[in-house]
Parts: sequence; C-alpha cells; structure tokens
Amino acid sequence: MTAGPKSRSRDIRRSRRRRQHGCWNHLIAAPLWVAYGANLGTLLRTCDAVGACMAVPRTDHYRDALDHGDTLERRPHIHWLDRSKLAWIEDQRARGSTVVAVELAEDAVPLTRLEPARQTTIVLLGHERRGVPEEAWPLVDEVVEIPMVGRGASLNVAVAGSLVLYRLAGLA
Ligand SMILES: C[S@@+](CC[C@H](N)C(=O)[O-])C[C@H]1O[C@@H](n2cnc3c(N)ncnc32)[C@H](O)[C@@H]1O
Repeated sequence: MTAGPKSRSRDIRRSRRRRQHGCWNHLIAAPLWVAYGANLGTLLRTCDAVGACMAVPRTDHYRDALDHGDTLERRPHIHWLDRSKLAWIEDQRARGSTVVAVELAEDAVPLTRLEPARQTTIVLLGHERRGVPEEAWPLVDEVVEIPMVGRGASLNVAVAGSLVLYRLAGLA
C-alpha cells in the first residue's frame, strides 16, 4: 500500500524539522485592535509558520482569545503590552523598528512591491470594522495594501495580516 497524503506530510514535516525556528523579534505581528478570537488564533498560527512574534495588550479579551484559538503545541512568543498601544508603538520606533500598517489607504504600497523585512518590523492590524485608528497613523512608517479585484470592500483581517507576514518574512 502506498503512503497517503497524511503520512507524506508527516514525513515532510519531520525532514524539515532542522529548519524550524522561533521568532527572534525581527517580525512582530501587532493585531492591537482585532476583536474576534478566531482572527487572533489564525494570526498566531501564521506567526508560528513564518517565525514571527505577536504583540497584544495584556487584557482578558486577548488572553482568552489566544488561549482558545490556539491549537499549537508551542505557541510563538507573545509580547504582552502593559502600557497604552500608542506608547508601545512609539517606544518600538524609538528603538529603531519600522512600523508597517496593513490597511487600505491612498498612499499605500501594494503587497506585490513589499520587500522582505531587513530590520525589526512591527505589523499593525486594524479592527474588523473600524480598521487602524486615526491616532496611530502618525506613528506609521509604511502602509501596505493588498490589491483586490472583487466586489468586497476588504479582506478578513487574519487573511490580510497573514499575506503581509509571509511577504515580510521572505516566504512569499
Ligand atoms: C475588514 S478590514 C476593516 C475595514 C474597515 N471597514 C475600513 O474601511 O477601514 C480589517 C482590517 O483588515 C486589514 N485589511 C483588510 N483588507 C485589506 C486590504 N485589502 N489591504 C490591506 N489591509 C487590509 C486591515 O488591517 C483592516 O484594518
């Protein structure tokens, strides 16, 4: 009997294990305004896949969402913010990080032109209905937009964040 797709993927996983790595703070997904637990869980899995960390406020909402939405054996490193979101972003910039907002905007760089991250990069993701709030814009270095040709106004935030994280990680 030949090996089925399941056992083949297990073999592939095993042979690749030496290439695995966790995040070393070069790429940090920051879904600071994301409301739905399912989206946070999906983003956490993408962080694991691309070797990124995640940064979220230290609140019950985020703790519960990540506990329930997390199906990983070992989850990526999570930075729990103890201060205001804007103060944390400002602090990251002061330390030399680049802040990239994933959003629909006039002056945005299209995903196809986004280069892999060469220095510590924070990836801001907006609220499911309200997007990235206005007060965060002065702290943003670059905005990236994912081109869409369909009739929908926007993508699901976890899909948008995952596409951008793959690109910044140099894996897509
Ligand atoms: C559903 S969208 C919110 C859209 C919001 N109604 C607005 O018009 O600003 C939620 C988040 O997903 C991300 N997003 C969704 N589609 C995107 C796209 N095509 N390009 C870049 N970011 C996108 C952004 O981070 C956005 O804040």
